Amino acid sequence: MIAQARAGECIQALSAILDRNALLTGADIPARNTADTSFLPPVRPLAVARPDTPQGVADVLRICAAHDVPVVPQGGLTGLAGGAHPIEGAVALSLERLQGIEEIDAAAATMTVRAGTPLEVIQKAADEAGFFIPLDLGARGSCAIGGNLGTNAGGNRVIRYGMAREMVLGIEVALADGTLMTSLNKMIKNNAGFDLKQLFIGSEGTLGVITRTVLRLHPQPGCTMAALCGVDDYGSVVKLLNGARRGLGPLLSAFEVMWPDYWHAATVRVPGIRRPVEGDHAFYVLVEAQGLDEQVDGGRFQSWLESQFEAGLIADAAISQSKADTLAFWRTRDAAGEFQTVLGAHCAFDIGLPVDAMDDFAKACRSRLEVEVPGCLSVYYGHIGDGNLHIVALVEGAATQPAADINRIVYETVRAFGGTVSAEHGIGTVKKPYLPYSRSAEELALMATIKKALDPKNILNPGKVIDLDVEAAS
Ligand code: LAC
Ligand code: ZN
Repeated sequence: MIAQARAGECIQALSAILDRNALLTGADIPARNTADTSFLPPVRPLAVARPDTPQGVADVLRICAAHDVPVVPQGGLTGLAGGAHPIEGAVALSLERLQGIEEIDAAAATMTVRAGTPLEVIQKAADEAGFFIPLDLGARGSCAIGGNLGTNAGGNRVIRYGMAREMVLGIEVALADGTLMTSLNKMIKNNAGFDLKQLFIGSEGTLGVITRTVLRLHPQPGCTMAALCGVDDYGSVVKLLNGARRGLGPLLSAFEVMWPDYWHAATVRVPGIRRPVEGDHAFYVLVEAQGLDEQVDGGRFQSWLESQFEAGLIADAAISQSKADTLAFWRTRDAAGEFQTVLGAHCAFDIGLPVDAMDDFAKACRSRLEVEVPGCLSVYYGHIGDGNLHIVALVEGAATQPAADINRIVYETVRAFGGTVSAEHGIGTVKKPYLPYSRSAEELALMATIKKALDPKNILNPGKVIDLDVEAAS
C-alpha cells in the first residue's frame, strides 16, 4: 500500500497539470476504469488520469514517480490477461483522450497515430487512403492501438503479416521517470544501434507507456477468397495447412480451426450464427487468402480447394461467393466474442503449442478438466496456422468459477506438451504464476534485469508480468 500522504500530495500535483476532466477521483471514477475483461474482481484505482498529449502522459509519470505512486496504463480495456487491470493505490493512466491519426505518408506507406486510437478507426482510415492495416482481432471496435502494441497482439492474420510488432516502424514512449522518448522512425531498414521499440512492444506497460506509433501500411488486397471446410481427422487438418502454405503461398491470410465443442457453442448457443457447412465433422477449418486479382487468384483458390478435396483431406466445404459469405464464415469464428454473454464468466486461454500436438493436447486437457473439475465445459479453437490454440473453460451456472483449478490444469498440460502459456494475449497478472512454465530461469532473470534498468522504482504496472527481485540464475 502507498502511504496516504504521498498519494494525497501526488493527486494534488497531478491536479496542477490536469484539468477536472483529465483527473478523476473518488465517485467520479468511471466503472469502466475499474476492470478489464480478465474477469478479475473490479478494483477502484487511486485516480484516473486522462492526459491528451504525449507530453501530458510523460508528466503524469514524472509526478507519480516523484511521489512513489505506481501507475497502471490503460487502453481500450479489452485485454484478457489483466495487464490493464487497476491496482489499489495506483493511478490508472488512461490513453482514451490521446486519440487521432496524425499523418498518412503515402510514399513511405506509413501511418502515425496516437496510442489511444481504436484499431477500427485506424483500419478505416487506412482503407480510405487506399491502404490496408493487417492487424485485426475481435475487439477491433473498442481496443486501442497502444494496448495492441503493449501486448504485441496477434489476431486473425498473423500467418501472413506477423504479430503486432512486425507492423511497427516507430514508437514514442513515456518512460518511468517521465522522460518522453520520441523514436518515430519511418524507415523499414534502420540498424543504428539497438531496436529500442521492441523492448516496449509486448512489455504490457511494465517498461514504458506507448504514446504514439508509426505503423507500416500494406497495399489493399485486390480480392479475398475464403472457404469453410469440414475435416474428419486432425492429420488431415495438418496436411491441409501444409497444402495451403504450398498451394496458396503468400496469399494465405488465415487458417483458423474450430473443434466440434466450439462449433456447437458458436453456432447453437450464440444466437443468429448461420452454419456455412452442415453435418458433423471432427474439425471446421476457415481458410482465407488475399490476392491481387479476382480472375487469377479466385481461380487459383478454387482449383487449390478442389485438389485438397480430391486428395481426401476435406469432407465438405463451402466456398465464399461474396463479401457477405466471407463475413458469415468469419462470424462463426468471431462468435467467441459472445461467449461472455451466452456462457457467462469463464477462463480464457491463448496457449501456443507445436501444431502437430494440438489435438492430443485438446484431448488430454479436456479429459483432465472433466475429471478434476466436475461440470467443466471446455471448448477449443484458434489460429492453428500460428500454433496458437484458444480454450474457453467454465462450470456453467457456478456462482464463482473454479479459476485456480482450471488454470492450473490447463497450464500443467501446456507445460507437459512443451508449449507456451501465452501465444498472443500476454501475461498480465492472470498468467504471471505460470510464466516459469514457459520461460527458463535465465530468461526470467534477464527480464527482471531489464525491468530494473528501466523502472528501478517499480512504478510501472508493478506486480504484472515480472517482479524486480527475480533471482539471477546461478
Ligand atoms: C480470438 C481472441 C480472443 O482469437 O484472441 O478470438
Ligand atoms: Zn486469438
